[in-house]
Amino acid sequence: MSSEKKKVIYSAMQPSGVPSLGNYLGALKNWKNLQEEYNCLFGVANMHAITVRQDPTELRQRTRDLVSLFLAIGLDPEEHIIYVQSDVRAHAEIAWILNCFTYMGELNRMTQFKDKAAKHADNINAGLYTYPVLMAGDILLYQSDLVPVGADQKQHLEICRDIAGRFNSIYGDVFKVPEPYIPKVGARIMGLQNPERKMSKSESDNLNNVVYILDEPNVIANKIKRAVTDSDTEIRYGEDKPGISNLLNIYCSVTDKTPDEAVNDFKGCGYGEFKKSVGDAVVEHMRPIQEKFKEYSADRAYVERVMQNGAEKASYIANKTLNKVKKKVGYPIYK
Ligand code: TYM
Repeated sequence: MSSEKKKVIYSAMQPSGVPSLGNYLGALKNWKNLQEEYNCLFGVANMHAITVRQDPTELRQRTRDLVSLFLAIGLDPEEHIIYVQSDVRAHAEIAWILNCFTYMGELNRMTQFKDKAAKHADNINAGLYTYPVLMAGDILLYQSDLVPVGADQKQHLEICRDIAGRFNSIYGDVFKVPEPYIPKVGARIMGLQNPERKMSKSESDNLNNVVYILDEPNVIANKIKRAVTDSDTEIRYGEDKPGISNLLNIYCSVTDKTPDEAVNDFKGCGYGEFKKSVGDAVVEHMRPIQEKFKEYSADRAYVERVMQNGAEKASYIANKTLNKVKKKVGYPIYK
């Protein structure tokens, strides 16, 4: 990493499907922009992913693909750290310790657990329940200052701060208490067919609801063309216009325009023309990323080198915190 004085950014993404436009606009795009100012760690959260049953061959492939995508959006593995969570043993170790400093009452309040438990009623495992503790460990191991995430992770960040504060109040200042970084626009991209609910990469029942980062250009354009709007004709933001507001947000995020500028761009436009412009803007934004993804994903040796180097660098930092924590809780210290 370039400078020890820079603040630390940590974030991660699950390899639980091809990332969606929501993942990109809520998280990945900001990760790229924050690289200039911070020392960053970007993780592939494959330990989180197995809280839902996965096909092992597919999971391994998606893990590599997510690293390729991180590289394709411009994350720099030389200046920063790109790694896979399961390659750093400290994650499993700290998760156990932090489990002993987390109350069931706190975990019972997690809305994502409730949602996922409802979705996977046949597999409500203990990992799904303690998932936020594993996530807190990810962040705390690296003494992170800032965690860039979408709005759906806010509650997990809050519990992470509570766990860190609790541990620190018992043992002294062991962990940095991190701040969330949630973008103003793009923090909550909604489904195209159901703009009342967030766009989710693990959705399989309605593919038109989700734009995947690696969808072909014509597929992206068509999905956006089919997005639900309303019976009105006006292109403006409004709680009564969730579909249009969502498309305006998507447009702002990919063009870096403000909401006012976006509304202004479409004054007097019909919905058809509006949706075509949003689709074109998304396609153009994604094109270079998709091209680079193809290049990286064809070079497995390079991608695996990035993973291995990243694991080494991440382990070094993580072990420093883990050793401190083990000492604090009273594990043996050998002379
Ligand atoms: P995951 O893999 O579900 O999502 C990755 C990132 O994408 C954001 N996101 C969205 N943003 C805007 N609109 C949406 N529709 C949308 N859907 C998803 C998420 O907020 C997230 O930032 N538990 C995490 C992964 C994780 C992690 C961590 C994150 C593991 N350890 C430590 C931060 C720090 C998760 O499942 O994200």
